[in-house]
Amino acid sequence: MPKTVAIANQKGGVGKTTTAVNICAAIAQRHPTLLVDLDAQANATASLGLVLGERPSVHEVLIRGCDPQEAILPTHLPGLSLLPASPSLVAAELELAPMIGREFKLRRAFQRIGETYEYIVIDCPPALSLLTLNAFAAADKVMVPVQCEYLALEGLSELLTTIELVQLNLNPQLALGGIMLTMYDHRTSLAKQVVEEVRKHFPLTFSAVIPRNVRVAEAPSHGLSVMEYAPASPGARAYKELAEEIVMALGG
Ligand SMILES: Nc1ncnc2c1ncn2[C@@H]1O[C@H](COP(=O)(O)OP(=O)(O)OP(=O)(O)O)[C@@H](O)[C@H]1O
Ligand SMILES: [Mg+2]
Repeated sequence: MPKTVAIANQKGGVGKTTTAVNICAAIAQRHPTLLVDLDAQANATASLGLVLGERPSVHEVLIRGCDPQEAILPTHLPGLSLLPASPSLVAAELELAPMIGREFKLRRAFQRIGETYEYIVIDCPPALSLLTLNAFAAADKVMVPVQCEYLALEGLSELLTTIELVQLNLNPQLALGGIMLTMYDHRTSLAKQVVEEVRKHFPLTFSAVIPRNVRVAEAPSHGLSVMEYAPASPGARAYKELAEEIVMALGG
């Protein structure tokens, strides 16, 4: 079965989507990879320069039992496919609520996909919602981006409790995969303190630290990963390193 990772933090704007897109682009150079956009903002879909039109999205897969193969799109990167989102996904929370097996819709969809991909990466919305529970029920590991800023650790204990509850009730295989430090500004002492604090509390923190880097922020507007847009930039180098660590952590 594919190695499945949920990129999650209910805190908004911490770098979930940026990290999901860039680690997928790096991993896809060697391994067939599927990026799942599970957020109604559809930022991951847009970051890859894709526009859906009338095509089915992850919404139809979760709610109407649409075959995921019909919704999955190729991207400009040969090893990377995308299960896209559309703004209609905002309705999914309400639509899922009364359904039987509501937490397992994504997992069932992955079972239909089978062995096509070696890695599946899910970009979660900024909420501990039914969509995020679907991601956790379908994943092996949760990877948590933490912004190197004030209140970095806010909400993390709630997130860890949710992971434990999912382990107990929905998916015994699920575990915390690691903390990923994002948007590090080397000029501030606060950023250094946050890195120390996070490493002290969470031994499972990846070594690669993603710097705050304008190239990282610009790349999505060109529909590109930062490794394509600015391969020599500090952001590109850090995301490549992080992707290698993640592949190692998942068993290579
Ligand atoms: N390393 C970085 N350097 C500079 N800007 C960054 C970096 N990482 C992310 N950003 C910018 O920060 C903003 C938030 O990032 P992103 O969308 O990845 O966060 P998110 O956690 O997915 O947000 P949401 O919770 O809304 O889904 C974006 O504008 C993005 O371009
Ligand atoms: Mg996002």
